[in-house]
Amino acid sequence: MTEQSGAQVEDWNDQSGERWVAHQVRLDAMLAMFGQTAIEAAAPVTGERVLDVGCGAGASSRALATLVGPRGQVLGVDISESLIGRARALAAQDMPVVFAVADASKAELPEGAFDILFSRFGVMFFDDPAPAFSHMRGALRPGGRVAFVCWRSIAENDWVRLPMGAMKGIIQPMTPRDPEAPGPFSFGDRGRVARILLAAGFTDIAIEPFDTSVPFGKGPTRDAAIDDAVEMTLEVGPLSRALADQPDDIRARASAAVRAAFADRPGERSVMINGAAWIVTARNPV
Ligand SMILES: C[S@@+](CC[C@H](N)C(=O)[O-])C[C@H]1O[C@@H](n2cnc3c(N)ncnc32)[C@H](O)[C@@H]1O
Repeated sequence: MTEQSGAQVEDWNDQSGERWVAHQVRLDAMLAMFGQTAIEAAAPVTGERVLDVGCGAGASSRALATLVGPRGQVLGVDISESLIGRARALAAQDMPVVFAVADASKAELPEGAFDILFSRFGVMFFDDPAPAFSHMRGALRPGGRVAFVCWRSIAENDWVRLPMGAMKGIIQPMTPRDPEAPGPFSFGDRGRVARILLAAGFTDIAIEPFDTSVPFGKGPTRDAAIDDAVEMTLEVGPLSRALADQPDDIRARASAAVRAAFADRPGERSVMINGAAWIVTARNPV
């Protein structure tokens, strides 16, 4: 299970992977509610076998392993060696979970071996999503289920929209990306997600909005929490790229503007910001 290639592999084995490892604890806190809701949609039961796609540091894989129990099995796959290393380190020895470095869109996967194809924000990075999902469908048993969570648009996700607005006029507007290019928001369009799953051969497709307030930054005091949220913006996620090559004075101005934007948000030892996702379910035909 080693076949890998492409820009995403490079990125997740370089900057993005390293940053996710460095910020794993707070990213897990931020994404917890989304993962939990997707797991409820997957509804795993004792003894089931789950494929966790783009499992990262394995928070969902561990939660799923607890639910399927010792008679079940979870396979977490990810293209990032460092995140799989972290996932292996965090999983208890006796958990029914194994991890593999693999590109889920094309790695050899055991045919019809899984009851559930799951992902927490790990399926938006495929170059060609419909063939990727078709390939992964081959690993599901007939009647097997899909459940994943993915971001809606940037405009609906304040954790990006707010700092992006604050940086206007300080840095050049980011070149508009192709909204369907691989990346965190490439599944923002509900119609596109439905088309991808349909083309991949799935049935019973349901795509429901899920909104929640997420702790985007935490600390022992309110000020420390705001600093933490600013650091997250500057270090991880979509806006970090726009700031990466900027001179120190521009970064400092951007940082102050982002800080002011976050200071308006509620939270005592955290900065609570709205996050908007799709909870997607589907089925492999019998
Ligand atoms: C936004 S992170 C989410 C990680 C994890 N699921 C979580 O919620 O913490 C996306 C993950 O997808 C992985 N990824 C991207 N493309 C992939 C592919 N083709 N096959 C497997 N993993 C992939 C990345 O390496 C990264 O770990």
